[in-house]
Order: sequence, then C-alpha cells, then structure tokens
Amino acid sequence: MIPKSQSVLVHPAARLGGTLSMSGDKSISHRVAMLAALAKGTSKVRNFLQSEDCLNTLHAMERLGARSFFTDDGELTIQGTGGKFLEPVDPLDLGNSGTGMRLLAGLLAGLPITAELTGDESLRSRPMNRIKEPLEKMGAVVELLGEKGRPPIRIRGGNLKGMDYAIPVASAQVKSCILLATLFAEGTTTVTEVLPTRDHTERLFLNAGIQLEVDGLRVRMKGYGAKGPKLKARPWEVPGDFSSAAYALAAVAARPDSSVTVSGVGLNPRRTALLDVLRRMNARVEVATRSGTDEAEPFGDVTVSGARLTGTTVGGGEIPALIDELPLVAILGALAEGETVIRDARELRVKESDRITCMANNLKLLGVDVEEREDGMLIRGPARLQPVAGIQSYGDHRIAMSLAVLGLYGEGPVCIHNIACVLTSYPAFWDHLIALGAHVE
Ligand code: S3P
Repeated sequence: MIPKSQSVLVHPAARLGGTLSMSGDKSISHRVAMLAALAKGTSKVRNFLQSEDCLNTLHAMERLGARSFFTDDGELTIQGTGGKFLEPVDPLDLGNSGTGMRLLAGLLAGLPITAELTGDESLRSRPMNRIKEPLEKMGAVVELLGEKGRPPIRIRGGNLKGMDYAIPVASAQVKSCILLATLFAEGTTTVTEVLPTRDHTERLFLNAGIQLEVDGLRVRMKGYGAKGPKLKARPWEVPGDFSSAAYALAAVAARPDSSVTVSGVGLNPRRTALLDVLRRMNARVEVATRSGTDEAEPFGDVTVSGARLTGTTVGGGEIPALIDELPLVAILGALAEGETVIRDARELRVKESDRITCMANNLKLLGVDVEEREDGMLIRGPARLQPVAGIQSYGDHRIAMSLAVLGLYGEGPVCIHNIACVLTSYPAFWDHLIALGAHVE
C-alpha cells in the first residue's frame, strides 16, 4: 500500500500484464449514496467506492439524517431517511468533489431546510453559477459565498416548480443536479443537453422506480411535489469504474508485447469513448459485455493489447464520453507516432485543476512537443522523455495517475509530487500498477 506518501517514484516498465478487478464507479457511488439515503429502510450496496470523494458524500448524507456502515467484506449498509432530512448545523464538506457538491445542491434545493456546502481549495475554485441559475429558476435561494460565483454555497430549499431548461454546457453534473431537485418539485421539468453526457442518474432513477422519459437530448420528468418520491430500500451493486480502469488500459496500449484485462467494469456507452480512441490509435481492444439494459448499467471485461500507436484527433460529441480520460489521451499522444489533437475540451479548464495548462506544462517539462490551445492541445510524438527532478500533480488525481502511466514509458524513473489526491477516486491505484508488474517506490 502506498496511501498517504506525498511523492512517488515510477520506474520504466518494459512489459506489463495481468487482470484487474475494478473497484466501484465513482459517479454511480455518489448517486447511490443519495438515493439510498432518500429511501425508507435499509439498503445494502455492493462495491461502493471507498474513496475520499464518495465517503465525503456518504458523510454528508449522514449529517442529513442517514446512517451507514461498512462490513469487513466492504459491503455498505445505508439506513435511509424516508425523505425526512435533518437541517445540518455546520457546513457540509464535500472535499475535492464537484459531483458531490453539485448533485447534493440539487437534492437540498428541494428540501425545506437551509444548508451550506463547502470543499477544499480546488473545489472552492470551481464554477457554481451553472447550478445556481437553474436551481433559482425552480424556486430555490442559492447564494455563492466565494468570489466570482465560487463555493461555499448556501441553499434555502423548498417550494420548487418544474421548468424547461436548456443546459448551456455539456455537464452530467448540472443535468443530475436539476433531476435531483425535480424529485421534490411540483410540475414537470424538461432539460435539454447540448451533447449527450453520462446518463447514470437517468438509469438509476428508472431502476429505483422514478419515472422519466428520455428523447434524444431531452429528459422529461414529473416532480413528486414537496414530499418527494416514496422510495423503498433495496440492494444496489456498483459496477467497476471505467475511468479508473482506463489507466491500466493506457499503461499497456503503447507496448506491443503487453496486454491487460480489467474485469467487472462499467461499460456505459456514454463513458467509454476512450476505447474508440485506443482503436483509432492502433491498440487492440476486446470487449465482453456481461449484462445491461436501458435502466441497468452495462458492465463486462475489457482487454487491451499494446501496439505502436499512431496519433488521432478527439473532439465534438466524443468529448463528454471521455472527459475524465483526456489527460490520458494527452499521454497516449506523447507516446504515439504523429500528431494527436484534443479540441472542443474547454471544460477541462474548470476540473479539479486547469487540466489543459497543467498537463501541457508537465508534458513540456518532460520534453514532449506540445502546443497548448484554448480548447485543448496538440501533441507531436513519439517523445523521448527527458529526466527531470520531479513533476507536480497540481493536487489533481487524474493528472497524478496519468503522469504515473507516462513514467512507465520513461528511460529513467520519474518522481511525481503531491500524490495524496489519488485517494479521492482510486485508492487501489498504486497497488494495481504494482500488480501489473510496475516498480513504484
Ligand atoms: C461526473 C460528470 C463529469 C465528470 C465528473 C463526474 C458525474 O463532470 O467530469 O468526474 O458524476 O456526473 P461534468 O458533468 O461537470 O462534465
């Protein structure tokens, strides 16, 4: 285990391989914690992701009146509130998690209580006007207490009305925030997206018996009024996290003699565009879907076998389906022959860090030919990595893990600083790299 140490040394690895069983999906774990806390009775959740982000959401639900504990085998038990939430005295701290904050804001907007949401320095620098505007349109009072529309957020909820709303940015967090608020609204809400984003909330709602209609980019849902829906406790099973699995897939993608299988991983088509990108870049990708319906999340096993990669372009409608994998696409671009272009990805600038500038700076430091652009970057590969004293994660988990993958392809070890952030989403990351054959100190 390499949990809390602040820096890590990743050695080059000539060959990697094996099978990994993936821990639970982060997005789905957040949502299940909220739905189980809303239900009446005791729900059991298998494969809930025990990362800092999801545990912060779970703690927030406890502060609102739910009870929860984990058994030794990792199963989570949540005793729900039946919709009768308590007013928290102190601010609810969502740590590093934009998903936790934005989704919880939606739920709170429907409740007749006042609550404050805060988070770490990174979360307190992220834009929240994108949820303030629709929640106020529904009737909540939302104050952004930070500078320029940033958190903390104070919400006085209740008396919501459904609305028609076109979401100006492609964001599953904003869509989900509005759908959670609609649970406690009178009338009907119709949200329209600019591009299809991950639909975990829609699937989980349908699975829990909450009716909604999806028609292309439009989701229509009738509110349940001030009392909210009457949800019964039920068992949940969280599929493995594709965004975490992506690191192992990328770790072998550029090595012609390496191959890895990730098993039990979520295969929601609105999450898996990285597989198309890997195929375009020349890697071999095999997918064995085990199960899934319109309501239940598809999951299965993915095997990637490495190859000499060639550059590609990612942009347009593909972006939301690999938004969290874009730092890895930049890494793959550095390893591939020719040009790799990431475009239409301005949203990367308002993630846990400005992922365009932070990735471009790190790649430059390592000697990669990269051009930063307003909405992405252009990378010319393959790069011959230069030895450097150390590189920074900027406190962003996905940057730390992407750089660790690149380190496997170096000519000498790469030191990555400030890696505690990995615990926000993927506590097993370093163990998994080691299990594949990497040497990590
Ligand atoms: C998430 C949606 C995405 C993604 C984030 C998780 C979710 O954010 O980047 O890691 O769980 O809904 P946006 O919806 O803001 O793009």
